[in-house]
Amino acid sequence: MKALRFPQAWLDELRERSDIVQVVSRYVHLTQKGGRYWGLCPFHGEKTASFSVNPQRQMYYCFGCHAGGSAISFVMEMEHLDFKDAVKLLAEQAHMALPEMTGEREDAAGRSEKERLLEANKQCARFFHSQLWKQENAHVLAYLYERGLDDSIIRVFGLGSTPPRSDGATLAMRELGFTDEELVQAGISVRRDGRVYDMFRQRAIFPIIDAHGRVLGFGGRALGDAKPKYLNTGDTPVFNKRLGVFAANLLRKQRGLKRVILVEGYMDVIALTQAGVPGVCATLGTALTIEQARMLKRYAPEIWVSYDGDAAGQRAILRALDIFDEEGVKARVLDFPGGMDPDEYIRAYGAQAMDTLTPMDATSYRMKQEAQAHDLSTQEGRTAYAIACARYLAKVKEPVELDNYVNQLMISTGFTRDVLLAQIGRTELISREQRATYRYAARPLEEKADGVDTETDAAERQLLLLLAERRIEPGTVTAQDFITPRHRALAEKLIAGMTPGAILDEIEDEQERARTAALLQKDSGAGEDELLRMAGDCLRILHKKRIEAQIASLQEALAQQKGEDRRRTLLKIQELTKERQTAGRKE
Ligand code: CTP
Ligand code: MN
Repeated sequence: MKALRFPQAWLDELRERSDIVQVVSRYVHLTQKGGRYWGLCPFHGEKTASFSVNPQRQMYYCFGCHAGGSAISFVMEMEHLDFKDAVKLLAEQAHMALPEMTGEREDAAGRSEKERLLEANKQCARFFHSQLWKQENAHVLAYLYERGLDDSIIRVFGLGSTPPRSDGATLAMRELGFTDEELVQAGISVRRDGRVYDMFRQRAIFPIIDAHGRVLGFGGRALGDAKPKYLNTGDTPVFNKRLGVFAANLLRKQRGLKRVILVEGYMDVIALTQAGVPGVCATLGTALTIEQARMLKRYAPEIWVSYDGDAAGQRAILRALDIFDEEGVKARVLDFPGGMDPDEYIRAYGAQAMDTLTPMDATSYRMKQEAQAHDLSTQEGRTAYAIACARYLAKVKEPVELDNYVNQLMISTGFTRDVLLAQIGRTELISREQRATYRYAARPLEEKADGVDTETDAAERQLLLLLAERRIEPGTVTAQDFITPRHRALAEKLIAGMTPGAILDEIEDEQERARTAALLQKDSGAGEDELLRMAGDCLRILHKKRIEAQIASLQEALAQQKGEDRRRTLLKIQELTKERQTAGRKE
């Protein structure tokens, strides 16, 4: 099933743009429950929903027939296509140009063109960064310092400076072997009146890096009040500002994020990151797009929108909330007081002040905005306000949550509870909810690898799930901690950042794929406060098992040994036995 035909980066992009919930929804009616979506399994006849789709892991799994896989394999099954044709179909639906649509030879050329532009961007980012430390660009570094940045955060984001000459970057890149044509295509250089010079001049440079660490383009901040304030790379064969976010590379590295904070500006991302706030990113000078929302929901179960407090910002927040709603993402709003942007707020009140801000849920935020839009001192205004709020409240599923909002609305509008509930249309909603109650029979596929004891198997599986959930810090668990080769291989891929869906795509053997799907679809069940303990317990068990294996092999060797050798082995066994006892115990 492995796709040798498609470039890996292109396939990754396709996976990012083909959200599995969307893909499956074209064929199966799905209803959200918990972190998953449920529906009637399309692969076997059933009356109760046992088919689940997990957006975070980008995989599906049926508890009835144990079918499991990714968006690509789902399309393969449903449309009876091979891998290549399923990928083509998905690419079409995602409006992505196919690498081989233009024929194999041109295809290879197109691919290498993109790679060439990415290479140019990478080299150029290095060049800009190195310029920052030069005496002749000291004013640019001074500008960044003045904005409160230190050397270490400058390095984390790879910030840079343009060179003094207006064609300095162009010259440096030519020296590295790039043609003017390539530089113009990459958006590094511009051609005007037959001359080629730098796109970015007299600016501080913010490289835009994707989740795979590729430099896609640049943002350039004017040093003073020059216009435009920010100049960004335009659309190029490798960059589309509607698809990416700033700091995607850092997002990917941070595991177990509880929420992603979405801000407006580059400087906001950097200031918050410097203040120790994890999971911050920004759109690239545009309003949030569906594609960005889809991508962000992979990183955390919630998104906090934190745009500037001005009127434009407020409107943008409402639009973003709608988009997140559409994508089924839980979103909240983190409002900064006094219309400040996050960068200004941190500069004014310090990093600790972040802890004093609590995010507002989307419904409260919308109600608050509606309250400002209507004159609540008149009956007419209150009526219009109640109608507007009822529209939002119709979407609130939990009765207890709804109750809070209805209480609030009763007070601010004076309508009775019954009238408001009728306006919200709650009666109908309740009956619909009841119908959607799931009674699927969970029949987990318990299969363990041959010759592996239960304790090792269970510990490794649990660790794999924690990795699949992206809830443990990188470095806490390594592939070497795993004893079973099959589990170790899976761990390696999860640690490298592959989604379970993408991992399943690489497994040729049907049986093995089903087994792996069964393994990776489970929930670790670890509460936030148990995570570390649980991971620690698993690692201790595996450590103990490795010692036991060592003891066993020494004991085997012992049978053939005499004299000094034998004495040494016995000593070693004794040592290991002691170590085994402490290893089994908790600190
Ligand atoms: N932006 C842009 N082009 C502009 C102005 C803004 O692309 N001419 C984008 C940038 O990504 C910028 C974001 O919109 O970071 C928010 O703009 P704004 O609030 O005006 O700037 P700040 O982020 O506050 O910038 P700074 O703090 O550097 O003044
Ligand atoms: Mn700002």
